[in-house]
Amino acid sequence: MNIGVIGSGGREHSLCFKFSQSKNVNKIYCIPGNAGTENYSENIDVDISNFDLIYEVVKNKNIELIFVGPEEPLVNGIVDFFQKKNIKIFGPSRKASQLEGSKIFMKNICKNFNIPSGKFAEVNKIDQAEEFLNNISFPVVIKSDGLAAGKGVTICQNKKEALDDINDILQGKFETSKKAIIEEFLEGEELSYFVITDGTNLKPIGNAQDHKKIWEGDTGLNTGGMGAYSPSILITRELEEKIIKKIIEPTLYAMKKIGCEYKGILYAGLMVKNNEPKLIEYNIRFGDPECQVLMMRLNNDLLDLILSTFDNTLSLQKILWKDENAITTVAVNHGYPEAYQKGKVIKNIDLINQNNNQQLFHAGTKKNSEGEIIAVGGRVLNSTVTSKNLIQARDKSLEILDKLDWENKFYRRDIAFKAIKNK
Ligand code: AMP
Ligand code: GLY
Repeated sequence: MNIGVIGSGGREHSLCFKFSQSKNVNKIYCIPGNAGTENYSENIDVDISNFDLIYEVVKNKNIELIFVGPEEPLVNGIVDFFQKKNIKIFGPSRKASQLEGSKIFMKNICKNFNIPSGKFAEVNKIDQAEEFLNNISFPVVIKSDGLAAGKGVTICQNKKEALDDINDILQGKFETSKKAIIEEFLEGEELSYFVITDGTNLKPIGNAQDHKKIWEGDTGLNTGGMGAYSPSILITRELEEKIIKKIIEPTLYAMKKIGCEYKGILYAGLMVKNNEPKLIEYNIRFGDPECQVLMMRLNNDLLDLILSTFDNTLSLQKILWKDENAITTVAVNHGYPEAYQKGKVIKNIDLINQNNNQQLFHAGTKKNSEGEIIAVGGRVLNSTVTSKNLIQARDKSLEILDKLDWENKFYRRDIAFKAIKNK
């Protein structure tokens, strides 16, 4: 079977790596891919917001299954588009994608179906916000309703900060929505939890802890993710049961009930306190960089798992894991998430030994006209290692990045620090 993977990040590189091990995968096409996905797939440079162009590629290359990495095409209805053309595509429909595409939609599901999540208020007018903020304790979290590429969330310590932020959102700071929400600030430890579902049946497909802040000790600005490890130390059998029973199952039930059956990967961003999970947000896809660590630990044939959601056999699948820890450290262009220089050459990548225990997944990389690899994005490389010992995994992932000769490289050296401290 020929597979099309949509996207160009570390997540998509790790998916191509994993699909390349599937027994029934013939050829992988990555649209548009990066300099690393080329090792497992043929890159096709097409704008992923142009579904007609993707359709041309799908026809020409005889692609029989499409896997969508990022949220934007899903929210814009790529699944509905290809279903109409009778092409297998894995992921939620446009309507079901509102779980990530509209925070108000997601919070209303939680409210109406008793799913544990922070209290919230929807805000369309500034005087309405003012009234609400008079009767609330701080900090509060202000969010834009629509997709905001990770930039739509601010934690505000007082009324003025909150009103300024809400004003910006109502004035149209984000193109995707002019609505805001005010949300209760949740304390605890964050956990990324993933399931694969055909709408009715579900199987947990891993958990991880992301590190969103740019600097060590979880300080500084928010980023797309500076590293992750899996499995999370927070996970116990009891906690998993609560996540499934109190959060995931009621959500799938709710989605069916309101006519938005959810199929695909569902990623719950959770806050855990005293062993009780609360939902912060839903994402309608694998996380990046969480996917990188999950794909290194997953022992199943990924294609078989996905196909089982199409032929109603997901409940027969058993998800198998390598009994090791995985860690990924993300190397970024110095300056990210603010302005940074693009185009510096990364040398020595060819010296890195890559196998089933260590992979250097690419994100913002390209080849220049001389065939050298250059850093073109904020997040650039993901040094991903598995080992029985988490400290050894981290040391190895850093050793790999230390070897690279690249003027602009920056990475945290403390991914998984909370888990390592508790060992
Ligand atoms: P989101 O875009 O909703 O994932 O939010 C980005 C990050 O902001 C989350 O990963 C949390 O670290 C933080 N965050 C969002 N909502 C809350 C909340 N209600 N309480 C505490 N932290 C939050
Ligand atoms: N790791 C966070 C995300 O993928 O949204």
